[in-house]
Amino acid sequence: MPHMTTALITGANRGLGRHFAAELLARGATVYAGAREPASIDLPGARPIALDVTDPDAVAAAAALAGDVDLLVNNAGISTGAQLLGDLEGVRAEMDVNFWGTLSMVRAFAPVLAANGGGKVVNVASALSWFAAPGAGAYAVSKAANWNMSNALRLELAGQGTQVTSVHLGLADTDMATAIQGPKTDPAVVARLTLDAVEAGDLEVVVDDWSAMVKASLAEDPRTFYDRFLTL
Ligand SMILES: NC(=O)c1ccc[n+]([C@@H]2O[C@H](COP(=O)([O-])OP(=O)(O)OC[C@H]3O[C@@H](n4cnc5c(N)ncnc54)[C@H](OP(=O)(O)O)[C@@H]3O)[C@@H](O)[C@H]2O)c1
Repeated sequence: MPHMTTALITGANRGLGRHFAAELLARGATVYAGAREPASIDLPGARPIALDVTDPDAVAAAAALAGDVDLLVNNAGISTGAQLLGDLEGVRAEMDVNFWGTLSMVRAFAPVLAANGGGKVVNVASALSWFAAPGAGAYAVSKAANWNMSNALRLELAGQGTQVTSVHLGLADTDMATAIQGPKTDPAVVARLTLDAVEAGDLEVVVDDWSAMVKASLAEDPRTFYDRFLTL
């Protein structure tokens, strides 16, 4: 990352977001660490900022406070296990954070990024942008929306020179994945790979083999992929 980078990371108090913040600090960036509870930010050198991405007033206040940002990392996310045919409030909650919260941040920070030379947006999506798994219906839909939002925003922000990068991973070793079995990527590695890719100008980061396999499967008959779940 160029040493002049000034970044804001949402959900920077724990998990992947904390690793983004730590890696950016190590690379010499100025870091605004967004958190619903700013007192939970424990990284020396980070500037805590109160930020619930579902609160429009908090988002606007963050954009007013952090007017020097040229890298926005939309990392905050929830995974509740809500099913599309279950409690609708759960489905809406996933969309509120993973889709609407991310869009709200980009809308608020687009003028800030423009004023700072165009800048960069990183949206943390998922391998689940490209498939649905049992028990993760609402999350998968929200992350599919997040992915194509990045594509659309890339077009809408091209005129002001803002680079938009979408990040896709299977499992990372954070609180979100505690209850899920399977190989998990070190979140420090996710942060490092992502920031290297963003610096290189990449528009998409496919972090692991699982994400690459899922993406490739989109070119196949869906039955080839979904038979593994349908026959359970
Ligand atoms: N871990 C995985 O296996 C995995 C895989 C694919 C994609 N991802 C994505 O990676 C990103 C980071 O997830 P993680 O694994 O680090 O999860 P995590 O450990 O559960 O952390 C989630 C972070 O998001 C914050 N957050 C939740 N709702 C928020 C809101 N309304 N406003 C602001 N911040 C909010 C949390 O803050 P609080 O502490 O206040 O709750 C926390 O800092 C998410 O977008 C997730 O969907 C994770």
